[in-house]
Amino acid sequence: MSRFYVTTPIYYVNAEPHLGHAYTTIVGDALTRWHRLLGDDVKYLTGTDEHGLKIQQAADDAGKTPQQFTDEIAPKFADAWERLDIANDDFIRTTEPRHKAAVAELLQRCYDAGDIELDTYSGKYCVGCELYYTDDELVEVDGVAECCPIHKRPVETLEEENYFFRLSRFEDRLLDWYAAHPGAMKPDNRANEAIGLIKGGLRDFSISRTSLEWGIPLPWDPDHVTYVWFDALTNYLAATGFGDPEQDYTDWWPVDYHLIGKDIVRQHCVYWPAMLMSAGVELPKGWGIGGWLLVDGEKMAKSGGNVVNPLDLIDTVGVDGFRYYVLAETPYGSDGDFSYEGLVGKYNSDLANNLGNLAARVATVVAKKCDGTGPAPRADSPLAAAAATAYADTVRGWDDVAPSKALDATWSLVRATNAYLESNEPWKAEPGPEVDAVMGDALEALRIVSILAFPAVPRTAQAVWERIGFTSDIAEQRLPEAAAWGAYPGGLTVTKGDPLFPRIKL
Ligand code: ME8
Ligand code: MG
Repeated sequence: MSRFYVTTPIYYVNAEPHLGHAYTTIVGDALTRWHRLLGDDVKYLTGTDEHGLKIQQAADDAGKTPQQFTDEIAPKFADAWERLDIANDDFIRTTEPRHKAAVAELLQRCYDAGDIELDTYSGKYCVGCELYYTDDELVEVDGVAECCPIHKRPVETLEEENYFFRLSRFEDRLLDWYAAHPGAMKPDNRANEAIGLIKGGLRDFSISRTSLEWGIPLPWDPDHVTYVWFDALTNYLAATGFGDPEQDYTDWWPVDYHLIGKDIVRQHCVYWPAMLMSAGVELPKGWGIGGWLLVDGEKMAKSGGNVVNPLDLIDTVGVDGFRYYVLAETPYGSDGDFSYEGLVGKYNSDLANNLGNLAARVATVVAKKCDGTGPAPRADSPLAAAAATAYADTVRGWDDVAPSKALDATWSLVRATNAYLESNEPWKAEPGPEVDAVMGDALEALRIVSILAFPAVPRTAQAVWERIGFTSDIAEQRLPEAAAWGAYPGGLTVTKGDPLFPRIKL
């Protein structure tokens, strides 16, 4: 059995979970479920990023200690993921002892390697990003000079004695490594941006602060606490048991995919691999870099005030309607425009009219023409080729971390089956072997569709599975065997049930 380890960013707890967080977490969940269908032993990690100035300030504003504050917000992320059917195996908080142990271990290794040194630093700092910016990276916003390019708020000038990670030493090593591992970062256009950041020249970065209380102390100099990115990135290792002498972290490490948004490419694709090289830890096998979901053309974030709570949208389109939309609508890596009209439009076309309609008409015809008992498919069905193509393309889509392509491939079989029924019109024919053959083919296509759609729309997949007569847990199906044409046994009771996706009026 092969192992598959995938992570999301750990989200800052200064804001409550929002659509952008949900997006990345749903991509990770779908990938996780896909790999479970393949029979892999999967570990899916998400969690919360709880240290640093930004969190300390948010706690101050709320009149709480940082620990009280983070203890209240972190469960809101866990709850949101539960309501979105996120099947994560672990949820890490950077305030946990296992995380602190891993950070101490990684810091000490990099320090012993000579890549962490004390220096004085003065720079323009964005608290929102927890990053220093150079002058040419800053932007003017509404006549205010020197604003953060992401948060559009003025940066602060900070000067202090910091420990620095000597990132500048890693330029060639990083370029060589990426050249030897083409395709590690997906998609290609985002990979090119990351390579561009390295080629643009690397500056050492500060990894500690003396002015901050809320963080993890450096093992060799406890007057300093770890600067947020060194702390946060290490969560991915901490969850494998790194820093715990009782555990072998290489059971899970190296990670298969770090899923991230395009906003944190520098930290994940430049800082992190350099830190790992310094510490003598293997580099990740892959990175999946998503674009932003934009609302009215702006990145949705707390500071922008245009936060959409994903949980509110579930009430309208259901958990699966929401999951399907974020996975299928926007090609992974590109920015997507989120709109209520887009969400409902996608729901009506792909779910209500396509999949929902297929399931309903199959059940209706089987009830009327086959006494409610599903016939077996034909071995030489005209749909078998469509199913094989849909499967191969679905595999390729998930392999490429391209959910929209995977789902389009899966839905190609839904479309082919609807077209097959429309050309055969079994509802007009007399009961008999010809109708049985057509309906057996349609049921077999629905069986395959439900398995392939499971990673994106798990509840719906299970519902279709049961309506065509199975009683087992669809999650127990294993690919590629389960996608081979012909496994629908015939003789099962087919039920219609309520519409899976009632049409929504805009
Ligand atoms: O950056 N569209 O946390 P964060 C798409 N704690 N994805 C979005 C998004 C949007 N509008 N907004 C957020 C941090 N995301 C750090 C990470 S990891 C070691 C530390 C997603 O709460 C996207 O995945 O700001 C982005 O990278 C992440 O949330 C940032 O979450
Ligand atoms: Mg952010």
